[in-house]
Amino acid sequence: MCGIVGYIGSKNVVPILVQGLRRLEYRGYDSAGIAVAKKDQIVRVRTVGKVDNLANKVKLNSEELKDTHVGIAHTRWATHGSVTEANTHPHQALNGKLILVHNGIVENYRELKEFLGPDIQYASETDSEVLAHLIGKFYTGNLKQAVMQALQKVRGTYGIVVMHQDNAEELVAARMGSPLVVGFGDSEYYLASDATPMLSYTKKVMYLNDGEVVDIKKDSLEVFNLKDEQLEKNVEEVSWDDEQAEKQGFDHFMLKEIHDQPNVFQDAIRGRFNLNEGNAHLGGLNMTPTEMSSINHVVLLACGTASYAAQVGKGMFERLAGIPTSVEIASEFRYKDPIVDSKTLVFAISQSGETADTLAALREAKRKGAFVRGIVNVVGSTIARETDGGTYIHAGPELSVASTKAYTNMMAVLFLYALQFGRSRNLPLSAGQSLLHELRRIPEKMNYILNNKDIIKTLAEKFKNYQNCYFLGRGLNYPVALEGSLKLKEITYIHSEAYPGGEMKHGPIALLSPDFPVIAIMTQNQLYDKMRSNVEEIIARGAPIFLVATVGDDKARQLSEDIIFVPKTKRLLEPFINTVALQLFSYYVAIGLDRDVDRPRNLAKSVTVE
Ligand code: G6P
Repeated sequence: MCGIVGYIGSKNVVPILVQGLRRLEYRGYDSAGIAVAKKDQIVRVRTVGKVDNLANKVKLNSEELKDTHVGIAHTRWATHGSVTEANTHPHQALNGKLILVHNGIVENYRELKEFLGPDIQYASETDSEVLAHLIGKFYTGNLKQAVMQALQKVRGTYGIVVMHQDNAEELVAARMGSPLVVGFGDSEYYLASDATPMLSYTKKVMYLNDGEVVDIKKDSLEVFNLKDEQLEKNVEEVSWDDEQAEKQGFDHFMLKEIHDQPNVFQDAIRGRFNLNEGNAHLGGLNMTPTEMSSINHVVLLACGTASYAAQVGKGMFERLAGIPTSVEIASEFRYKDPIVDSKTLVFAISQSGETADTLAALREAKRKGAFVRGIVNVVGSTIARETDGGTYIHAGPELSVASTKAYTNMMAVLFLYALQFGRSRNLPLSAGQSLLHELRRIPEKMNYILNNKDIIKTLAEKFKNYQNCYFLGRGLNYPVALEGSLKLKEITYIHSEAYPGGEMKHGPIALLSPDFPVIAIMTQNQLYDKMRSNVEEIIARGAPIFLVATVGDDKARQLSEDIIFVPKTKRLLEPFINTVALQLFSYYVAIGLDRDVDRPRNLAKSVTVE
């Protein structure tokens, strides 16, 4: 998804912008550009492709760009118009005097074009350029006023930063639906879509809310609402440090983030349970015991990987708390006139906390009077702020587009919530205690898999040239199979589907052949025999089989020589372990195929448009 960086201060702006864009690369993009203010003109450099291309072009123009201290930059993920330099931000109006970067979608851009009239020459196919011209139309010397007036006419979503040659020491930014963060340095200000680009310079940040406009000059900063009333805002401290956002010696962010899991899992559960009481205590729930006992339906809203964490969460809620639980894909929920009421507890689950569909869905649930809570990674993100409580998953910055550690920590928090509800209902003390004992051992079991990753690497090498495959699982291992399959698709581009073991014979089995392998999760739990029968059916069709099996399961060896052995745990906690094995498997297949693991084609880390 598009990324914005801006700076105003006394430092040399170009390296700050280029470096800032690099830090936002994880969001996914297909072109990049910067614009900096000189005394008599604004200089713009844009390229399609990677920020590296932009950096090279910047070098070629270094003479023109030197000694500049105010500028804006953007990585674009195409929505309106193809990937061309002309469509790349920053866009300009007023013959290059007014410059804008924009994230989001201007829905009424056609109407606005009509309003602007036929005289305007558009240089791009983008809705963003229309917005630049609209601000240009209202400009009479006061940039903030022009932005305010233009935004009254805009329908859609935006995070924008605007500059004007005649106000070269000023940046005006505004937000509606697309995140923007302001960073406070020493007589200098940073702007970006999230805090990552500014972490090396400052930890002091201010999050803009929807409908807020910030007017930044070298020595002042003022925030207004769209009615032009000045607002008081808090400056907050970000806890993530710069180093946390680096690869720490791993070849890819994804591999680093897979290895982060034993540690960040502990961060997710630390201080949130009591072993003696066999219970969890998530303060963010913000519900009285009476309210808790009134809940008769839990709804888990999410997209992508988060929706598979939700499917695991559903199993946990139903088994531990006995509360009927639905998983709702947010983009569907928002349009289906959902059945939720004041006895429904809705969790919006999101790594970024900015996913547009999840946000819209939670607003709909709120409108219908449900309790709405967040399970979110990015602190201060929109979903975190728009829910009436909830819990951060503490996975730390997740920079690889394919989600790994956020998935595991979402499941961890869902488990704790399920336990808390279970214990407030009928779950016995001993059951709670024994689950928590085992929960504490999860990091050590994850480490077992990480330490044996060479075996997974060998299996991945053997697997990598297949064009299709299935993942199979039963019980809570079915969503684990779904997530395993999604991960493989996302980073290897191999076609893959996931099914519950018992569904194979109802259709999917027709495709099996020696060229169509199956990855089956056949760990030792109460569904082991059922899964084993499914695996035998597959072997009988001549399809290659790769197994995830429990350490010490000798019978598994009779079925296949290609096995990832994982430590035994309680069945409700198996997803934490089995997932790590499948993440490593996809990672090594992608490496074997020489894929761009951290930035897979066509995908974005944070999808802030519908
Ligand atoms: C994008 C990402 C996925 C992620 C999904 C939901 O599609 O590529 O990895 O699962 O968005 O994102 P969220 O930030 O809401 O968890």
